[in-house]
Amino acid sequence: MKILIIGATSAIAHETAKCFAKDGAELFLVGRSSEKLEAVQNDLKVRGAKRAESYLLDISQLDRHQAMIQSAIETLDGLDMVLIAHGTLGDQRLSQENVTKTLEEFTTNCTSVISLATLLANYFEPRKHGCIAVISSVAGDRGRPSNYVYGAAKGAVTVFLQGLRSRMAKSGVAVVTIKPGFVDTPMTASIRKGPLFASPRKVGEGIYHAMLKGKEVVYLPWFWRPILLIVKSIPEPVFKKLSI
Ligand SMILES: NC(=O)c1ccc[n+]([C@@H]2O[C@H](COP(=O)([O-])OP(=O)(O)OC[C@H]3O[C@@H](n4cnc5c(N)ncnc54)[C@H](OP(=O)(O)O)[C@@H]3O)[C@@H](O)[C@H]2O)c1
Repeated sequence: MKILIIGATSAIAHETAKCFAKDGAELFLVGRSSEKLEAVQNDLKVRGAKRAESYLLDISQLDRHQAMIQSAIETLDGLDMVLIAHGTLGDQRLSQENVTKTLEEFTTNCTSVISLATLLANYFEPRKHGCIAVISSVAGDRGRPSNYVYGAAKGAVTVFLQGLRSRMAKSGVAVVTIKPGFVDTPMTASIRKGPLFASPRKVGEGIYHAMLKGKEVVYLPWFWRPILLIVKSIPEPVFKKLSI
């Protein structure tokens, strides 16, 4: 299995990569920190990856996406799957005060993902084979005052993937939307932990199984699906009064 992982130093992506490494996969790891990438790369080799190559890229450099994908294809001699995992949980208050910050958050969490998914879909479609998995978020299911910039970016990604999935169904390419709830990773380091928090390992393993099965939309852990069903059904006048 030849797998491109973008945002490979993410705690969740690393856990998914460990599962693929155990299967002896060939991995092409993309991240912006050479130190972190090297650590992940070495770990995955020890865990059984047949091959683990790395590529340095700040994903906000949209004009470098095509070259990175080309390099992955040439290095691994083709691709079977991709996991797009990078993201930032920006400071909502800062974004409210500064539109430049809002747009930066959108570049990282939305525009870059749409750029990558478009380029990768055009690679997989004529080959009639492959899987494009993207980590979105339950935050994209309903806008909340505490994180609606992040939520809107993830929501746009979710809708984009919904359309892409229907397009790609005709060529047998799976498009997997992953919606984790709270996960205990560096991204949530400053948030007080509660019973709804999952481990990156549990979520990473869930992503691995979803990718192998070519699932459509996966909530991780599963209980976020009914929770979000309820959250989405709350009428606006009531929702506005809730402090969530
Ligand atoms: N943790 C949660 O509660 C939660 C919930 C729902 C969805 N998610 C989503 O899950 C995904 C993985 O996040 P995580 O929880 O594993 O957090 P994480 O460990 O902090 O991973 C985030 C990753 O994104 C990378 N990244 C951010 N901006 C980048 C850029 N401009 N260029 C290249 N890489 C960039 C980071 O690289 P550096 O390490 O170099 O900064 C890091 O590897 C994200 O899409 C996140 O939105 C997380």
